[in-house]
Amino acid sequence: PRRVRIPHLQAMKAEGRKWAMLTAYDMYAAQIFDEAGIPVLLVGDSAGNNVYGYETTVPVTLDEMVPLVRAVSSAAHRALVVADLPFGSYGASIEQGFASAVRLMKEGLAHAVKLEGGAPMVPLIRALTDAGIPVMAHLGFTPQSEHQLGGYRVQGRGDAADELIAEARAVQDAGAFSVVLEMVPAPVAARVTEELAIPTIGIGAGAGTDAQVLVWSDFAGLRSGKAPRFVKKYADLRSTLIDAAQAYAADVESGAFPAAEHSFES
Ligand code: KIV
Ligand code: NA
Repeated sequence: PRRVRIPHLQAMKAEGRKWAMLTAYDMYAAQIFDEAGIPVLLVGDSAGNNVYGYETTVPVTLDEMVPLVRAVSSAAHRALVVADLPFGSYGASIEQGFASAVRLMKEGLAHAVKLEGGAPMVPLIRALTDAGIPVMAHLGFTPQSEHQLGGYRVQGRGDAADELIAEARAVQDAGAFSVVLEMVPAPVAARVTEELAIPTIGIGAGAGTDAQVLVWSDFAGLRSGKAPRFVKKYADLRSTLIDAAQAYAADVESGAFPAAEHSFES
C-alpha cells in the first residue's frame, strides 16, 4: 500500500473526512495498526507511562525515544510515523531542538516530529520545516508542562480560548502541518478546527476536530485502574492476557502443557 503523506491528510481535511491516530511504541503495535489502516502512528513520549514505567512523560530522554521510533518506523509500511520530541530535548535553543529532531529522523527513521507549545516554539517550528522536517504541534494541555500547569487540567476555557486560537494560528503560520489539541473544551477545539487550514487532532477535545488520537494501551484496555474521561476502551487486553497467563500457568502446573504436539519425540 502507498505511504500516507502530509498532502493526504490535507486532502482529507478539504474533503471533511475524519481520521484516527494511535500511539505505537513497538513492532507489533505498529504492524497491527498499520494493517488495520490507521493512517498516522505517533511514537509518543507517553512511552514514559506506557513503556518505561514512569509516572509522567517528563523523565523520558531522546535516547529512550530513538529505539522505539526506529522499531515503529521499520514495522509500519503505510502509516505516517510521527515521533515526539521529549521534554528537555528542544526547549533550550533552536540548535538543540534541531539536533534532536534530526536524530529522530535519521536514527529513528521518523517521517515527522511532534513538539509541545505555541508561540515560544515558532522559531524552532520554522527552522525545522525550512529544513524539511515536518512538525506536528501540540497545544492545550501539554503533559511535559504539567508541573507548570498544575496538573492535568482542561486548557483554553473562558478568556483563554482566544489565546489558544492565536497560538494555533501561530504554529500554523510557522509551518506546522497539523496540531494536537489536548483537553480543550469541544467548542473551542471546533473553532480552532474551522479557523485553521491544517488538520487538528483532538484528545479530550470533542468531536469537532479533523482527527482523534488515543494512547494505544488506553484504547486497548492494557492499563489497570480508571482511564481519563476522554478514553474509550475498544478492547480489554488486560483481562485477555491475565486469563491467558493464568491458563498457561495452570496447564504447566497440571502437566497439560506441553502436550505431545508441542514436544519432539526424537
Ligand atoms: O505522547 C502522546 O501519546 C501524545 C498524544 C496523547 C497526543 O502526545
Ligand atoms: Na506526547
